[in-house]
Amino acid sequence: MRPVSAVLSPLQRRLRWARVLLRPAAGEQTLPLAEVPESVAIIMDGNGRWARERRLPIGAGHRAGAETLKKIVRYASDRKVGYLTVYSFSTENWSRPEAEVIGLMDMFVELIDGELDELHAEKVRMRFIGRRDQLSHELQRQIARSEQLTAGNDGMRFVVAMNYGGRNEIVDAARRFVAECGPDAGEDEFGRLMYDPELRDPELVIRTSGEHRLSNFLLWQSAYSELYFSERLWPQFTTDDFEEALRSYAGRERRFGGR
Ligand code: IPE
Ligand code: IPE
Ligand code: MG
Repeated sequence: MRPVSAVLSPLQRRLRWARVLLRPAAGEQTLPLAEVPESVAIIMDGNGRWARERRLPIGAGHRAGAETLKKIVRYASDRKVGYLTVYSFSTENWSRPEAEVIGLMDMFVELIDGELDELHAEKVRMRFIGRRDQLSHELQRQIARSEQLTAGNDGMRFVVAMNYGGRNEIVDAARRFVAECGPDAGEDEFGRLMYDPELRDPELVIRTSGEHRLSNFLLWQSAYSELYFSERLWPQFTTDDFEEALRSYAGRERRFGGR
């Protein structure tokens, strides 16, 4: 097959180059703020494969993933995302090797400790969803500290799903629904019994690493979310990839069952 350039006229070739040269810088390709979704959720997947591909220990993959998270949180806050929810540990992840789980829990404590002051300075409001009573006392202490310190902030709400399971959340809500709500209560009342009642349903759910499933994440809240799957492993996911996901969302037609 002949190369593309060989079948283009000189004028077409010049136009092609003009397009390349005039392509706006990355910053100019960002979506107008009005089109940025209010609530974005991310299933941060692929740390293990990233480490395996490099013959590194699994913990190195999780630490590389933590570096990505730091960048994406700041970027989302700069882009005026109202709510960013990230899946950091599922109720099913306890079934992993003990050394990996212990390493992850230690890393979460370190991460909160190391990032909290800066997030607070950026007016981020932190919340954790999931069954926290099964976490170590140290981690519970850091979680409580971060929620208390940032409670009055008016910036992005940063929600971390930690020991979180969507089915657990629905079962916990169902127990309270039966105990606290009357016979006329419906979806709105039930939704207010989720772990973070103020969390807006995500308009966009991103999953990295090429896996196409929810893995028990935000089952109630994602009923009408737009799903975006990236082939990138989480440690490789960049702010440009995030922007690309926002652009994909902005180009979708949401119908909610209507015409
Ligand atoms: C996601 O990366 C992080 C957690 C689940 C804690 P994985 O560790 O699941 O990465 P893969 O799927 O094995 O590549
Ligand atoms: C989902 O990823 C959980 C988190 C990203 C924290 P998993 O890697 O645990 O999901 P599966 O096992 O591939 O479904
Ligand atoms: Mg995984």
